[in-house]
Amino acid sequence: MADSTKTTRGSGLSRRGFLKGISAGGVATGLVGGAAVQHGKVVEAAPAVVGPGDTAIKLKINGEVKSLTVEPRTTLLDALRNRLDITGAKKVCDRGTCGACTLWIDGQPAYACSVLAIDAEDSEITTIESLGTPERMTALQQAFVNNDAQQCGFCTPGMIMACEAFLKENPSPTRDQVRDGISGNLCRCGTYHGIIDAVLEAAKTMKGGA
Ligand code: FES
Ligand code: FES
Repeated sequence: MADSTKTTRGSGLSRRGFLKGISAGGVATGLVGGAAVQHGKVVEAAPAVVGPGDTAIKLKINGEVKSLTVEPRTTLLDALRNRLDITGAKKVCDRGTCGACTLWIDGQPAYACSVLAIDAEDSEITTIESLGTPERMTALQQAFVNNDAQQCGFCTPGMIMACEAFLKENPSPTRDQVRDGISGNLCRCGTYHGIIDAVLEAAKTMKGGA
């Protein structure tokens, strides 16, 4: 027979202790209309339950608000690629190890495969699509071209987003700092030498150097 004094995992409260507490306090605690109520006062709003089906959300991407529906389990990366057709961020490992899906959330680089779309609702999302154009590249994009810093190009959008964010924080980096700074982004083609050269060249250009 099960031991009724056993602690429920994670609750820190035994079944017997819980029942004792209830009888001591009478019916003083309960849930009314989704809110926790103690002694007749609402003490804490219960978290809203969403899903498991499609849920309407709004995402602010590159300054534009987009309305869409997603299951709550949908990652930001899948929402962008599969629902909004914004495909610059690439899906490679889909588990936060390669950096191919790097974008910015509120100006900070993030792996889009490791963030739920519903959790990004109140944030400014910036993707590679908003950085430069083929006619007007950023200094870093031009430096990638100049230094042959890509082969298949699959890691490149995420790499650019990571390197641009790195340069904002480190406008005058050393070679070793660049190497450390891009360590969260993997290039299967092994173009690291060119990428580091490109970041160093862009740093110089951005400071007004040749
Ligand atoms: S696809 Fe997101 S880190 Fe690899
Ligand atoms: S250029 Fe091919 S993975 Fe980096």
